[in-house]
Amino acid sequence: MLSFLYNRLAKLGGENLRLDAMRMLDGGKQLLESILNVDMNGVTGRVKFLPPDDTLIHPAYEVINVIGTGHQRIGYWSNQSGLSIDPPETLYSNPGNQSSSDQHLGPVFWPGKTTQKPRGWVFPNNGRHLAIGVPNRVSYREFIGQVPGTDTYSGYCIDVFTAAVSQLPYAVPYKLVPFGDGVENPSLTELVRLMSAGVYDGIVGDVAIITNRTKMADFTQPYIESGLVVVAPVMTRSSNAWAFMRPFSPAMWAVTGIFFLVVGAVIWILEHRLNDDFRGPPRRQVVTILWFSLSTLFFAHRENTVSTLGRVVLIIWLFVVLIINSSYTASLTSILTVQQLSSPIKGIETLRTSNDPIGYQQGSFARNYLVEELGFHESRMVPLKGPEDCERALKAGPHKGGVAAVVDEQSYLELFLSTRCDFSIVGPEFTRNGWGFAFPKDSPLAVDLSTAILKLSENGDLQRIHDKWLMSSACSSQTTTFQVDRLHLSSFWGLFLICGLACLLALFLYFLKIVRKFSRHQQADVSHAAAAAASSSAALSLSSASVRLQTFLSFVDEKEEEVVSRSRRQSLDRASNRNDCEAVDGETQDSKSGRRVEFSTNKDIGTENGI
Ligand code: GLY
Repeated sequence: MLSFLYNRLAKLGGENLRLDAMRMLDGGKQLLESILNVDMNGVTGRVKFLPPDDTLIHPAYEVINVIGTGHQRIGYWSNQSGLSIDPPETLYSNPGNQSSSDQHLGPVFWPGKTTQKPRGWVFPNNGRHLAIGVPNRVSYREFIGQVPGTDTYSGYCIDVFTAAVSQLPYAVPYKLVPFGDGVENPSLTELVRLMSAGVYDGIVGDVAIITNRTKMADFTQPYIESGLVVVAPVMTRSSNAWAFMRPFSPAMWAVTGIFFLVVGAVIWILEHRLNDDFRGPPRRQVVTILWFSLSTLFFAHRENTVSTLGRVVLIIWLFVVLIINSSYTASLTSILTVQQLSSPIKGIETLRTSNDPIGYQQGSFARNYLVEELGFHESRMVPLKGPEDCERALKAGPHKGGVAAVVDEQSYLELFLSTRCDFSIVGPEFTRNGWGFAFPKDSPLAVDLSTAILKLSENGDLQRIHDKWLMSSACSSQTTTFQVDRLHLSSFWGLFLICGLACLLALFLYFLKIVRKFSRHQQADVSHAAAAAASSSAALSLSSASVRLQTFLSFVDEKEEEVVSRSRRQSLDRASNRNDCEAVDGETQDSKSGRRVEFSTNKDIGTENGI
């Protein structure tokens, strides 16, 4: 040992230390030998030095934790075992094991008497633990609640908070301080108010971030979405004999029916003058219109369409029928195969238009929101303590002292519905809220914890904590749908508009042509009549309006071929009349001028084969 000391001193620059001035012990060598020859059991175990470097046999050290002015042993270190809580004497009899998983020490108390490892620096709070207020909930304790028989708190919110705090680059010593009497759910707005008054340093719990509260506190990013929704009793809708009517709304049925008749009539008008299939006695024609239009429903119409306009209208109509048919089939299939749930309450709008009582969770901001923002009368609001109360009130219904529906945050109601399949969320979420941790204004913790919550969300920890506490719904495993919406006219009006416009345009073009033809036909008739009896009053009577209308209608009703052949006949008559006259005149004139007379035929009439 002395030689070791001498060597160290020499290494430190012995020439400057004036070692020669030191008095030497002559028996040093013998002393060293005597020490190296020691082999005994001391208070710290066996003392023996082993060659070649004279190290102590089985060296071992205690590891102590200095706490304030005292200390506490937290384990041992030895060559053989590394760090261990077992004393080395017991370990030297075992084979050496220094794997990192076996390196243990007792709990360490860090400055501040905390067992949390320091992360550089501590949240400055004058050495005091932060007083974090937690709502002492009596229902939905999966979110936050006192562990029975202890003064600790557990739940989804607590787990999210501890996970977020562990992400911070510094330690946050805190203690949870309950708020609430344990009999009723406390008002969280009141808790936030107390925090802003300095009673608490922060709030951890199911605190919804709403305008009133953000005026008093700073919130972290929301760690769960939880808007307000309506829950109402639902019944399984059984299929019945009239299920086939359900796919379309009444308006849709009415408009579809009207269009079948209109299209049938339009095709009849366009085809009537040309097509024998659309002619005959009036009763037969009505039947033809109905039969034709209804058979297009199955693309099974037998009547030919010969006019161009008729074909255009028909092809557009068949396209409309195709869409209506396939939508009807799809909707009816889902109605008959998927279990349907129905409720007379469709959402918050239905509640607005009635005077039935509405339930809300005691202590929740939902009551103020419904009364102050949505204008529901206070007398309609019924406070409910917990899920059992909710279930009882919903089952009793509005006329037997219960409620028509319950308005609450989605997170609670998902838990409520997980075991109660007779109820369902009806209508959409009508507010977009989330829950966050609240801190006094300008607290750096709100910002840092927001970042930590985003990290938890990105690495999936938030979802894992959610799955741990908020189990998936038992009812959601059933293949239930909340009343498949009927197909409404609003989804089809574009199709009907196109078809209607096509019909109108076709009719317009048809009447333009028919009026043109009629006036040509009239001119021919008038000249024929004038030629036949120039002085007769028949020509005058044709100009009367009613007669003209009658003539027009009978012209429209007449088959085109007949009109054409009659016109031909008349022109031939006229031509022969003129021939006769001019033959008489011609004899006189020719005899005077010697000119040759030619006859022309009417080329305008009867050249077209349809419209
Ligand atoms: N989550 C209940 C409330 O914020 O009032």
